[in-house]
Amino acid sequence: MTTPNAAASGTFQVGGEATVNRLGFGAMRVTGPGIWGPPQDKAECLRALRRLPELGVTFIDTADSYGPDVSEELIREALHPYGGLLIATKGGLTRGGPDQWTPKGDPDYLIAQAKKSLKKLGVEQIALWQLHRIDPKVPRDEQFGAIRQLLDEGIIRHAGLSEVGVEEIRAAQSVFPVATVQNRYNLADRKSEDVLDYCQGAGIGFIPWYPLAAGDLARPGGPLDAVARAHGATPGQVALAWVLRRSPVMLPIPGTSKVAHLEENVAAAAITLSDEQFEALSEAGRKAA
Ligand SMILES: NC(=O)c1ccc[n+]([C@@H]2O[C@H](COP(=O)([O-])OP(=O)(O)OC[C@H]3O[C@@H](n4cnc5c(N)ncnc54)[C@H](OP(=O)(O)O)[C@@H]3O)[C@@H](O)[C@H]2O)c1
Repeated sequence: MTTPNAAASGTFQVGGEATVNRLGFGAMRVTGPGIWGPPQDKAECLRALRRLPELGVTFIDTADSYGPDVSEELIREALHPYGGLLIATKGGLTRGGPDQWTPKGDPDYLIAQAKKSLKKLGVEQIALWQLHRIDPKVPRDEQFGAIRQLLDEGIIRHAGLSEVGVEEIRAAQSVFPVATVQNRYNLADRKSEDVLDYCQGAGIGFIPWYPLAAGDLARPGGPLDAVARAHGATPGQVALAWVLRRSPVMLPIPGTSKVAHLEENVAAAAITLSDEQFEALSEAGRKAA
């Protein structure tokens, strides 16, 4: 079997200049249960992270809150000094315990967290820093202003947003160039179609999280299963092939703690859906949503 390579997914230029292969990796799962503390099998997580460049994965997404700190620290341990890799991180959510996430958008806090991520990752500049959530308790322009400051001071090279609507992206764009938007999106969750279309029109990278999910569509005998069988693939791989085909600005970041799952996910980059298969899945997903 030939080694899968994310290069088959094509490339995208983050912020119009930093080229990555479109199929990336989400590093949220290299932590403990509830995205809290160290992973149960650290050695396997390190193997998975070290396998990324060998599989052509050049875009890695993490956050200060994954662990917290655990994911950034493992990425550093496995991959520093990152030749050819773009490590994107996020800030703006605090953790009280497993599965607990609380927005914190005070400008001083956001700036301090970005500086902390810089140190944790061991870089001179964060290639892409994303506001994990707009904190509803803090005026959004203050949060956008903090990002502007991080860009102006060179602490971060590019900036993005997460879980936002089109109006919020426009408001942010009046303060700083928005390079990426990270929203939950997959075959069966299409709430962000308008955001995706806006991003495509503006050349903004759209990072769908939870991209492997397909809900009931993946059931044995269901629409995804049928296409998967035709390609000798798994339903998860076809779900990834579908998001990749959906838009040239799509940068899916499937996450896993296991090398075998990583290799399976990267192999999805080479699956080319026919027009009929793509349309049939799009329609089935719209109905399921
Ligand atoms: N911006 C946000 O608010 C936000 C929220 C959530 C996530 N994210 C980002 O998005 C990334 C992806 O999101 P996600 O982790 O929720 O969703 P996902 O990547 O679609 O799914 C990950 C889950 O699927 C399993 N999995 C992965 N590959 C598999 C395979 N080939 N076969 C079977 N199971 C497989 C993983 O477990 P195993 O470890 O057992 O493989 C894990 O439980 C995260 O890593 C994170 O970077 C962002």
